[in-house]
Amino acid sequence: MQQFGIRPEEPDDWWEVEALYDLCFAPGREALSSYRLRDDVPPVVGLSLVARDGQGILAGAIRFWPVHVGEHDALLLGPVAVHPTHQGEGLGGYLIHAGVEAGRTKGWERVMLVGDAPYYARFGFLPLQGVEMPPPTNPDRVLGLELTSGVWADVHGPVTRWTR
Ligand SMILES: CC(C)(COP(=O)(O)OP(=O)(O)OC[C@H]1O[C@@H](n2cnc3c(N)ncnc32)[C@H](O)[C@@H]1OP(=O)(O)O)[C@@H](O)C(=O)NCCC(=O)NCCS
Repeated sequence: MQQFGIRPEEPDDWWEVEALYDLCFAPGREALSSYRLRDDVPPVVGLSLVARDGQGILAGAIRFWPVHVGEHDALLLGPVAVHPTHQGEGLGGYLIHAGVEAGRTKGWERVMLVGDAPYYARFGFLPLQGVEMPPPTNPDRVLGLELTSGVWADVHGPVTRWTR
């Protein structure tokens, strides 16, 4: 990833990242149920990252939100997107690894997301049983990663908006 400058997202990056997400996702992305968990909640400071190419043009971005799962805390990974001109170069994987490791450093123990299991399996994400995203969400797409061994065991219930 030497060709990209990667650093935490700052407030001035916000609308450029939104434009990248608009480009990379289907129209209406904000109607997805996962966005109801993000309404009026800021992303986790320091974990959300932007990657810029040598000209300073945004090439990729990842954000993380805090959520509750039942009585427990978790990081909600996403959205993550890489500009179509840079997809397949390893940048998405780099951003996911870097963001997750930053979360571990800050003391987070579990990460979840809604996404394609075949892609996220390579990072260790596995389907979560009994973790209920706001409907409509395909339960097969609700995936989790343990940053401390065993922390998803016995964690069940609805995923709700962060309230602290
Ligand atoms: C998904 C995304 C972030 C991956 O970023 P990237 O930089 O292209 O990914 P990487 O270069 O790290 O990895 C590429 C590999 O992931 C695979 N991959 C990408 N998206 C995939 C998917 N949805 N399902 C399965 N595999 C996928 C590619 O086939 C490639 O496989 P290979 O390593 O065997 O060749 C990027 O393609 C993107 O922005 N897509 C549109 C937005 C999106 O779908 N975001 C994820 C929401 S769940």
